[in-house]
Amino acid sequence: MEQTPHGSPDDPNPLRRLSLEQLRRRTSAKWRTYPDDVLPLWVAEMDVPTAEPVAQALNRAIAMGDTGYPAGTGYPEALASFAGKRWGWDGVAVERTRLVPDVMLGIVEVLKLFTGPGDAVVVNSPVYNPFYLFVEHMERRVVEAPLDARARIDLAVLEDAFRQAVAGGRRAAYLLCSPQNPTGTVHTADELAAVAALAARHGVRVVADEIHAPVVSRAVPFVPYLSVPGADSGFSLMSASKGWNLAGLKAALALAGPAAADDLARMPPEVGHGPSHLGVIAHTAALRDGGDWLDAVLDGIDHNRQLLVRLLAEHLPGVRHLPGEGTYLAWLDFRRLGLGDDPSAHFLEHARVALHPGPPCGTGGAGHARLNLATSPEVLTEAVRRMAGAL
Ligand SMILES: Cc1ncc(COP(=O)(O)O)c(C=O)c1O
Repeated sequence: MEQTPHGSPDDPNPLRRLSLEQLRRRTSAKWRTYPDDVLPLWVAEMDVPTAEPVAQALNRAIAMGDTGYPAGTGYPEALASFAGKRWGWDGVAVERTRLVPDVMLGIVEVLKLFTGPGDAVVVNSPVYNPFYLFVEHMERRVVEAPLDARARIDLAVLEDAFRQAVAGGRRAAYLLCSPQNPTGTVHTADELAAVAALAARHGVRVVADEIHAPVVSRAVPFVPYLSVPGADSGFSLMSASKGWNLAGLKAALALAGPAAADDLARMPPEVGHGPSHLGVIAHTAALRDGGDWLDAVLDGIDHNRQLLVRLLAEHLPGVRHLPGEGTYLAWLDFRRLGLGDDPSAHFLEHARVALHPGPPCGTGGAGHARLNLATSPEVLTEAVRRMAGAL
């Protein structure tokens, strides 16, 4: 395995530019949580070198000693331009954005604007596990509206959850994950418009976590929540973190729809103390100049998505998998293999492959695990072979 042929800095696919040996020298969570004999396909980090425009911008800042506090509106301007070019959406209004430390802390600060302790936050399970952790930490209640069998939003189930959330006249929010982590579902314009109408009918405020928005297959349109009719009172959280692997460079944006501008204006100024100047520089450069690099990564992810389907058919035919169109995550259903609620524990122990466990993603997570596709085809192939060998 250590001799895999990936590792050429000139490879057109950024997911093949680093060797396993180079990746194992990294000090981030993906590479340091498990011993070196484990292939780590769990946390949402990508096995790519830093995109050239981002590296150049950071190197320039370091060379100048430009390491102070952030200023200006370059980040939201870069997002506005990216959204126009990539999604045909001209709705990012710089004056309706706020710099926040990262997407999760941005969600917390936005939820604080219109919910109080004990109020409900509706989520579509299975979903990114920190949704539960952060919402509960801020003393709100999670109300689940599980996705349907095709991993799509079930409007009837969502309506029941909204009713439960606002019962007794309480305020409530809906934390939408778009695209959906872990299933990779890319919600359609019709689905999002129906969600907006339903939320308006029940007086529920929508907060869309769109951190994975840049990571959508190029053949599929991504629809920003705030672009659909009826979404005016909603919020979105965006950043370049997932698209360009910048989780270590903290800086995200909260976006308010036109009817939510007054709420956003109430966000306390101290929230802006969290994001780092180098984070802002990195995210801005990614959105402004990183489009070609992103396209190359998206093609590599598409390739791996198709490869995974073939590998599962050949080596793990008992695993059910609906390939998503967004995120670089694959959601695997191991229930037919009888590996219990948490198959990731079996594969860590017996295959030395680390997947993200399914149960913490809420209802629908038992018997499942999440696999990170943002690696080389060689590592992906080796991981599936190891998993098959562990059955
Ligand atoms: C849906 C979703 N939201 C938020 C985050 C974390 O974002 P941040 O590090 O900006 O808080 C992730 C990370 O994987 C994610 O998948």
